[in-house]
Amino acid sequence: MSEENTNSGPHPSNKTSLEQAAMQDEHMQDVHAQLMREKEEPQEGFSPVPIFLMFLFAALCFWGGVYLVHYSGGFRWDAYDPHFNPNADKPAPVEIPLFERGQKVFSQQCAVCHQATGAGVPGVYPPIAGSEWVTGHPQVLSRILINGLSGPIEVKGNTYNGAMPAFGPNGMNLSNKDLAGVITFIRQEWGNEASDVTEKMVEDYKALYAGRSTTWSAAELKEGLGPIPEPEVEEVVEEDDEFAAEGEQAEEAHAEPAAH
Ligand code: HEC
Repeated sequence: MSEENTNSGPHPSNKTSLEQAAMQDEHMQDVHAQLMREKEEPQEGFSPVPIFLMFLFAALCFWGGVYLVHYSGGFRWDAYDPHFNPNADKPAPVEIPLFERGQKVFSQQCAVCHQATGAGVPGVYPPIAGSEWVTGHPQVLSRILINGLSGPIEVKGNTYNGAMPAFGPNGMNLSNKDLAGVITFIRQEWGNEASDVTEKMVEDYKALYAGRSTTWSAAELKEGLGPIPEPEVEEVVEEDDEFAAEGEQAEEAHAEPAAH
């Protein structure tokens, strides 16, 4: 410290305290300098948003959109009605008739061998059209489709000796609906005239033959056949309506042949 500085002070007697103060100042400056050094440099403008926050917001917006679409009831004005049913306007899903389903299955699974015309290939693949195996007992046809067929078989006067693959659980594993469809289709297409074979009937036959791993032979097919299942209740009701005028006796007489 210089003399001038100390003289300029208000009282010479304060010299020591001034020096002390100066010392303290220096100390303070040291401390501040330290603080200044450790502080981050101030920056101009705004700091950018952290990238993870951007992603978080984007994900939130996406989730919000999905939530709205799901739970907004189609933004309908009556969506807050306690009895609101969002599916009320939609038509019930249309069940494809067995025959049409079977037509598709046939062209995908069978037409390769038996041809789209159902005429087969002479000497190799037997015909479906006009075949007595097709229009006969539904159990025979179900057996052929569930487990396959091999060995000599006579169809419409010609003998074939090939192998037909299984379409049941041990083969192509078609669903009961598809099997019922294709069986019904081939029983009623190309001039064939035989009864529907329902999903329920196929289900029952599948239960019997799902465990069988060998194909059928023509001779085996004729053995151990059960009774031909009765047509579905719905169809019977329709027929009954037609005969209702004739009274109950007519109905009974009608039911008798089926029991045999
Ligand atoms: C790989 C060729 C092939 C495919 C695919 C095939 N079959 Fe056959 N099918 C045959 C052969 C071969 C026979 C004769 C088997 C024999 O000689 O024992 C036969 C026999 C039959 C018979 C009994 C004989 C007759 O003509 O009435 C029926 C019914 C039949 N097939 C229906 C079908 C149906 C329905 C499908 C499709 C779900 C189908 N087949 C798919 C080759 C095939």
